[in-house]
Amino acid sequence: MRDAIRERFIELFSTEPYFFRSPGRVNLIGEHTDYNNGFVLPAAINKEILFAVGPNDTDTIRLFSYDMQEQATFDLARIAPSDISWANYLLGVVAQFQQSDYQVKGFDLVFGGNVPIGAGLSSSAAVECGLAFALNHIFGFGLDRFALAKVAQKAEHEFAGVRCGIMDQFASLFGKKEHVIKLDCRSLDYSYYHFEMSNNCIVLCDTQVKHSLASSEYNTRRQECETGVALLHKHYPDVSSLRDVTVDMLEKHRQEFDPVVFKRCIYIVQENSRVEAACRALEQEDLVLFGEKMFESHEGLQHNYEVSCTELDFLVDQAKEHTAVLGARMMGGGFGGCTINIVRIAAIDEFITAMSKAYEQQFKIPLKTYIAEIVDGSSMLS
Ligand code: GLA
Repeated sequence: MRDAIRERFIELFSTEPYFFRSPGRVNLIGEHTDYNNGFVLPAAINKEILFAVGPNDTDTIRLFSYDMQEQATFDLARIAPSDISWANYLLGVVAQFQQSDYQVKGFDLVFGGNVPIGAGLSSSAAVECGLAFALNHIFGFGLDRFALAKVAQKAEHEFAGVRCGIMDQFASLFGKKEHVIKLDCRSLDYSYYHFEMSNNCIVLCDTQVKHSLASSEYNTRRQECETGVALLHKHYPDVSSLRDVTVDMLEKHRQEFDPVVFKRCIYIVQENSRVEAACRALEQEDLVLFGEKMFESHEGLQHNYEVSCTELDFLVDQAKEHTAVLGARMMGGGFGGCTINIVRIAAIDEFITAMSKAYEQQFKIPLKTYIAEIVDGSSMLS
């Protein structure tokens, strides 16, 4: 892929590019908690986007999507959301730099990779983070990875219309080989936990469905959580997010809540505790307990947060039946995409065969599966 991208760059722009890469991510536990100032536990994985980039001494940016085999040119003086959806993730990053007075000059880009789109592995964050990382380097902006994560997140808010949290961008930029990242989304403090992969591995089961609800429901969930916080803030002036809330506080004021808002809030509060319990389990090398927390997380996402779907629930139920599976749950925004499964290495083939057969029989859609390895975050390639 890298050679092909380089060749295309040279063919189009007649010069040798710089090379960068930025990975997609998994999230072991802590779903929808990021925009509630809570905890998440993601990791960068070996599905990545590659970028061949070079300055072009003009006032335009020339973009080529290797995966779509499409080219588009934009004037730097008029960066705005475009009809070309793949270009928006890139334009969003350029716009963010410009808004903060970093002078983006003309550049050429060929990019492409193997992060499946719409599978909940954050292909969009990989694109945003990779370009932010590359432009920061070639134009010498001197920003650190925190600042780049925020640039990429705002690009998603403003050019993709999803008010996402910081998890995906953080994971793509801060990933570390063989480690998961426990991120406190309130303080942005983070720590790495070694994720033992000699006996177990991470298998992703891709439903291949993406229900159209995904982005509108995402923004609705955010709104519902804000409604819950506003209600509690009246009683507890120190509460400014669901991170500051306990189950007891919610129970005490249950009668005042819209029942749907109550369910959303209780899920978030419990999910934050689950991330902490899961991290303690990792410290004790207790992957069985870790897996139980994953199953509990799915229950909450299915019944209280209501962002799962029939296909995801089916896959988790099937996984639960399998003795080689330690834990499984839906992953990412929901309404489709992948489940994440921790599976004993010795039984991987058997697991994949059984899951594929059951899924195809039930939905008449082939199941795609990926074995995720945990890799380092965005980097420059020599
Ligand atoms: C999407 C968003 C993230 C996060 C997850 C749910 O991936 O981009 O910020 O909110 O959904 O955990």
